[in-house]
Amino acid sequence: MKFILSLKSFIYILFFPSLVVSIVPDRSSISQFQSLSYGKTIVSSPHGMFELGFFNLGYPNRIYLGIRYKNIPVDNVVWVANGGNPINDSSADLKLHSSGNLVLTHNNMVAWCTRSSKAAQNPVAELLDSGNLVIRDLNSANQESYLWQSFDYPSNTMLSGMKVGWDLKRNLNIRLIAWKSGDDPTPGDLSWSIVRHPYPEIYMMKGNKKYHRLGPWNGLRFTGMPEMKPNPVYHYEFVSNKEEVYYTWTLKQTSLITKAVLNQTALARPRYVWSELDESWMFYSTLPSDYCDHYGVCGANAYCSTSASPMCECLKGFKPKYLEKWNSMDWSQGCVLQHPLNCKHDGFVLLEGLKVPDTKATFVNDSIDIEKCRTKCLNNCSCMAYTNSNISGAGSGCVMWFGDLFDIKQYSVAENGQGLYIRLPASELEAIRQRNFKIKHVTIVTAASGMLVLGIYFIYRIWRNINEKSKAENNYEGFVDDLDLPLLDLSIILAATDNFSEVNKIGEGGFGPVYWGKLASGLEIAAKRLSQNSGQGISEFVNEVKLIAKLQHRNLVKLLGCCIHKQEKILVYEYMANGSLDYFIFDLLRNTDHTKGKSLDWPKRLSIICGIARGLMYLHQDSRLRIIHRDLKGSNVLLDEDFNPKISDFGMAKTVGREEIEGNTNKIVGTFGYMAPEYAVDGQFSVKSDVFSFGILLMEIICGKRNRGRYSGKRYNLIDHVWTHWKLSRTSEIIDSNIEDSCIESEIIRCIHVGLLCVQQYPEDRPTMTSVVLMLGSEMELDEPKKPGVFTKKESIEAISSSSTNTLTITLSAR
Ligand SMILES: *[C@@H]1O[C@H](CO)[C@@H](O)[C@H](O)[C@H]1NC(C)=O
Ligand SMILES: *[C@@H]1O[C@H](CO)[C@@H](O)[C@H](O)[C@H]1NC(C)=O
Ligand SMILES: *[C@@H]1O[C@H](CO)[C@@H](O)[C@H](O)[C@H]1NC(C)=O
Ligand SMILES: *[C@@H]1O[C@H](CO)[C@@H](O)[C@H](O)[C@H]1NC(C)=O
Ligand SMILES: *[C@@H]1O[C@H](CO)[C@@H](O)[C@H](O)[C@H]1NC(C)=O
Repeated sequence: MKFILSLKSFIYILFFPSLVVSIVPDRSSISQFQSLSYGKTIVSSPHGMFELGFFNLGYPNRIYLGIRYKNIPVDNVVWVANGGNPINDSSADLKLHSSGNLVLTHNNMVAWCTRSSKAAQNPVAELLDSGNLVIRDLNSANQESYLWQSFDYPSNTMLSGMKVGWDLKRNLNIRLIAWKSGDDPTPGDLSWSIVRHPYPEIYMMKGNKKYHRLGPWNGLRFTGMPEMKPNPVYHYEFVSNKEEVYYTWTLKQTSLITKAVLNQTALARPRYVWSELDESWMFYSTLPSDYCDHYGVCGANAYCSTSASPMCECLKGFKPKYLEKWNSMDWSQGCVLQHPLNCKHDGFVLLEGLKVPDTKATFVNDSIDIEKCRTKCLNNCSCMAYTNSNISGAGSGCVMWFGDLFDIKQYSVAENGQGLYIRLPASELEAIRQRNFKIKHVTIVTAASGMLVLGIYFIYRIWRNINEKSKAENNYEGFVDDLDLPLLDLSIILAATDNFSEVNKIGEGGFGPVYWGKLASGLEIAAKRLSQNSGQGISEFVNEVKLIAKLQHRNLVKLLGCCIHKQEKILVYEYMANGSLDYFIFDLLRNTDHTKGKSLDWPKRLSIICGIARGLMYLHQDSRLRIIHRDLKGSNVLLDEDFNPKISDFGMAKTVGREEIEGNTNKIVGTFGYMAPEYAVDGQFSVKSDVFSFGILLMEIICGKRNRGRYSGKRYNLIDHVWTHWKLSRTSEIIDSNIEDSCIESEIIRCIHVGLLCVQQYPEDRPTMTSVVLMLGSEMELDEPKKPGVFTKKESIEAISSSSTNTLTITLSAR
């Protein structure tokens, strides 16, 4: 033992000279002839992030040697040595042999061993704080060169600093392999790695089948991952040279813990971030990110767009191979050219905003420009498409595709994707040109015919509406066939709510009254009766409900069922015992029950703030659709009996395509006082408008006051108030007196800081909800907030007419 300690001190002195005094009693290495037995662990140095040891995953007689986070209690295993070959009792032993190899034996049989690249003289095995188990030679001059490292043989988890790809010198493919299931680390058949096409890309493979494709690296990002942008969490890199081809990412903030895990059950590769506050892994993003991300859903020569209906469309100049199949939404056979190619007399049509096709049959030359690329492609009759291989800056390099084009996806925001020049016969190009000209001709050249077209269009719309309504009303069951949600009979709801009696009415949401009710089973419900003039047809309603039904998050009110009967449309939600948040923070029941505000002490309020943030993040981030709430405020946050917050009224919010993060609307819904300036003024809504509303709500929760109101006779603007006090470092003066006793000042200041970041005037300055959740849940450094933007109709009019001195009235410059 003494020897171990002294050896360890030696290592410490060698590598961490300043840490000599803080030697922890855990071991962090195994040297020659030493062994690790069952029940013992090796702890990573110097910070003790990870440990190596023997453990089971719920079955006591299946024991694994593995690495896990030392201080995280759940889902903490990041690497397993003997995944497919567990040990059945505690007689396991891990030794470092003089050859420099770790050998795991059990009953004198080898259960697992490493194969070091060369023999060592004085080997040592060490666990690093990155989670990497390494073997190196103490006699070797280069201590960074390892004889073996676990990062070269990943399990299902990608950690910061790990490379996924190819070490070409050793012909080693470093890839993630999913576990068979959450409690069985036997390698499954789902893997994630780089495939070395001329234009390399990352595939998720299910067995031999392509399941998801991240697309090639285009100089800025993987073309199939538009959200890969400089972010506060991690830095990413793709390297391709003669020695290696790999993708890697590293954390920017050491206080954050994040991992990407390949999951066989979910057939996905989600990324999680550890939330200290919550003691759980928070979902951050996932691959595949939507339906169109599934490999080749549209077949050959077609493209997929989640915001289109149907999602698949043939490329211009192509037609469905089997029209009937195509029209019944079986797209697997794809599309073929409408007219045959003519080789030298062909041309190209540009399709923009794409995840470019599968690069299996490609050719790349980094030193050819786009004009030469075109010529080269034109001269080879089997070249079907070309584009720049690097879109950074003005674009450079040349990539060409041969044969059918597979797995193209189109983003609804063109900048998210990249352009592709697709080969078509000259005759086809001429037809396209004429079509475009005709469209221009009709809509622009003569105003009169333009009006006519418009008129016809409206008549068509009205006809279609009538048609759809009658169709829908006659057989709406058709729509709900695949609805994962109980369709309740009106009589059940009438019985539960006492025929919608006034006594049972518990609120008036944006879209109609809400009634409390009790089902025969005893379950309490909140039934929202949508006003009949909501203008929504049955099919739209059902579509909406289908979307909401898929939203499952503990910070969203759960939809239990719905009811459609003639004009009656009712949504049935779980009932929230403590009503809405505004009653508590604004003491609305002051006269009858003054304990309300007090009953929400600071810890509860903080957990409510974090809960709302997570709920909103889920709406913005969910993999299937992106939802902008548009009306987040205290009365739309409900509290269950344990004061867990649940966002409500999100169902009628705006859903936008996954890639489209902004929209424009003619009808501005929402509540003044919570609205972001760009939304209130221009009807420009985005996830960032929700972030703004969240910031306002956060400050209301802390201050116990409404953003807009009158207090002691004076007009009052909470954000103004908070900003002024923040600038003077006097935030303690604005805290709700109800939480003075329970508050922790540093937490409050951090919350206000985050709140101020959320209400900055320009949307691009505001953080995303994902960042907000991270900022609330960690110690990461925060940016200085810029001046908040606040706009309310009344104020601006007043400000203009009386040139008020209100410093916070924003300039409404068109942006
Ligand atoms: C454990 O496995 C070994 C073979 O690897 C077998 O001989 C032994 O009987 C097993 N022990 C138990 C308790 O199952
Ligand atoms: C995969 O995801 C499922 C939920 O979809 C989860 O229950 C399971 O534990 C996950 N497996 C792994 C290995 O993380
Ligand atoms: C892409 O182009 C940019 C700018 O021209 C250059 O800096 C970068 O190295 C290129 N990337 C690759 C992968 O060639
Ligand atoms: C790329 O193109 C340049 C210029 O045409 C040529 O000299 C070079 O040989 C090409 N490289 C490859 C790998 O084809
Ligand atoms: C066209 O390109 C393909 C793939 O690089 C090649 O095999 C073929 O020989 C080329 N044909 C001509 C005529 O250059």
